[in-house]
Formats: sequence, C-alpha cells, structure tokens
Amino acid sequence: MNSQELKMNFKEVYQADPDVLYFSPGRVNLLGEHTDYNGGYVFPCAISLGTWGAIRKRDDRQLKFFSGNFKKEGIITGDLDHLEYNPEAKWTNYAKGIIHYFEQNGYKIDAGMDIYIWGNLPQGGSGLSSSASIEMLFCGMIEELFGYKLDDLKAIKMGVDTENKYLGLNSGILDQFIIRKGKKDHAILLNTADLNYEYVPVDLGDNALVIMNTNKPRALVDSKYNERVKECNEALTVFQKDMKINSLSEVTEADLIKHMSELDSRHLQRVRHIVFENQCCLLGKEALDNDNLQEFGRIQNASHVSLQYDYEVSGVELDTLVHAAWKQPGVLGARMCGAGFGGSGIALISKDKVNEFEKNVGKIYEEKIGYASRFYTVEIVDGAHRLREED
Ligand code: GLA
Repeated sequence: MNSQELKMNFKEVYQADPDVLYFSPGRVNLLGEHTDYNGGYVFPCAISLGTWGAIRKRDDRQLKFFSGNFKKEGIITGDLDHLEYNPEAKWTNYAKGIIHYFEQNGYKIDAGMDIYIWGNLPQGGSGLSSSASIEMLFCGMIEELFGYKLDDLKAIKMGVDTENKYLGLNSGILDQFIIRKGKKDHAILLNTADLNYEYVPVDLGDNALVIMNTNKPRALVDSKYNERVKECNEALTVFQKDMKINSLSEVTEADLIKHMSELDSRHLQRVRHIVFENQCCLLGKEALDNDNLQEFGRIQNASHVSLQYDYEVSGVELDTLVHAAWKQPGVLGARMCGAGFGGSGIALISKDKVNEFEKNVGKIYEEKIGYASRFYTVEIVDGAHRLREED
C-alpha cells in the first residue's frame, strides 16, 4: 500500500487527514530459533510484508480503531482510561498494551486517537510476527504523534512487556528487536545475552527468499511455547548445581557431556538444540561473510533437523513443507521459522525455479495435509519507519 492509498483509506473512515503515516515490517529468522529466551544468538531480517498505519490525534480521550483487514467489524471504540487487556478486543490489545507502557514509562498520552491499520502478513499465527509488527507500528506512530523520541531498546522493551506481562506469552526479544532495527538487505546477528548486535549483509544474488505458510489454524501455540520455556528453565537448574550460569546458551559441549547423564531424554534434547542452534548462527554468519550461500543453506537445513527432532516444535505441516522443499531443484536451504507448531517456513531458492517450486511443494503439501499452503517471495527491508507522502 502506498502513502496516498493509506491516507485515502483513513479519510474514508474518519473524514479527516491523518497526522502520521507509518510502516512496520514482519520478520523471518534465518537461523537461531528458540534461543532468544535462552540468552543465545538469533539471526533475523525484516521483510517486505508488514503492517501499515495512519493515525490522528483527537481532542477527547477516545480511541477509535479500524482495521482494513476486518472492515465488517467497523470502528472499535475504547478510551485512555480503560487500557486493560480484554480478550474480546482482539488486535486492539496490542495497541492498548503499548499505550499502557508509554504511560508506565512516564510518557504522558493525554489525547485520544483515530487509528487505521492494514496489513498483508498472513493472519492467525503465521510465524512472521504480525503481533510484534503491530506493536512496533504503534510505538513508532505514537512517538511521532506526541513528539517523543524513544531509545530503540526502550521501544523494543515496551513491545516485549506487552507480550510478556500484558498478554502472558513468555517470548524473547527477537521479534521486536528486528522489526524496530532491521536494515534493507541485511540480517542482524544479535546476542540476546548482552544485546550486542551486528548488521550482516545478505546478498541473495540470483536467489529468492520464499516464505512457505502452512495455513494451519492457530491452536495451542502459546501454551506449547510456554512449555518449552519451562523445560529450558528446568534444564538450566541441573547445570547451575555446579556452574555459575544464567542461561542455557552458556553451556558448552563439554558442559553438556559432563551433565548428560543427569538429564532425562526430553531435557537433553532441549539443551542439545540450544547448544547446536547457537553454533548454527555463528557458522551462518561466517558463511554469509564468505558469500557462501550454499553453505548457509546447509546450515539452515541442519537447524531444521534440530528443531524437528530435538526441540520438537515443527509438526507434520512444517516438516512436510520443509522436507518437500529440500528435494526441489534450485533450493539452497529450507527450515521452519518462528515459534513453530504451524506458522511458516522459509526457503532460499534460485529465482528461476520459484514457480516450479511453489507448484511442486504446494501439491505435495495439499495431498498430505488436506488443505493448501501459501507462498510469498519477500525482500529484506528496513525496520519500522514513518512514511513520507511520496512513499
Ligand atoms: C516467537 C517468539 C520469539 C522467539 C521465536 C522462536 O517468534 O516471539 O521471541 O522465541 O518464537 O525463535
């Protein structure tokens, strides 16, 4: 959607011009899954699918929300004095959570808002972070509207607090970090323990980054995610008996060997994944530095195997897509991405083979799973930012 369309759509709903136009991307994680709440490495990039927003200050304390994706629902009304979580309020909870944390952090929000949003990230747990995209959209729009300039980490923290404390999902910092700080044609190698990070150029050459969406209805993702967080915390206590460590990412292979007999099979699998996945991120960066996309793809494949068998977060839908992808001509690598249990996978594939790839993988998936998957070729783009009139 360009700025003019966004502005027109806003005007149609509110009969006035918006004050601020904004875009916030989705994300894929190239490597480093489920490591962020274990103090490990992640290696994500921001993508050209995302959420667009237009906003205008009101002179009362009302909040008016309208989503171009759910036109039938019309304007959803709230107000600044009732920012508590309401399960019925759907996506507007992300916005209310962010406004709540502006206030909590001492940034006064003393005027209501008219809000229009529209997004092209697949809905319902696509694994591409539509929720963090909306959170960072609101963070940025409100900063612009009220003239606040937040430190990036503070903005990111508000998004994470919205997920952890407001919505009750124990997720890490991956999604909000990349959506706020992403850079065109770069991935970020982020160490989630100390938040040091590095922009790593991603030159895809003649290859494309393709998202494979399972279209699996979202079910139980949050509770299964929180279960993994719990298992990792339990495993950590085993190492902490004789080691001064704060997270599983400080466990080396030697530590793992030493403590292996004290872990049951489930906890051993979880730790093995974390140790291995952190290595994958570092090896992946090396491969990109050496312009070796073939090697990068192999590392992605290995990462999927670890997520499938050791961390057990993929499931038949993602495995069907990823395993089918591995067999297609022109594919350098493919893996699940995000929390898992459905959602999306990604593939690196020669541009001239994308059509054939989508046809073949789509067919195998539909035959096995009983409904269609969906494919999106995406670009790597900048993080959340204000749009100019000419964008
Ligand atoms: C979700 C969470 C992230 C991260 C990924 C798995 O996207 O929001 O914090 O844990 O899953 O890597």
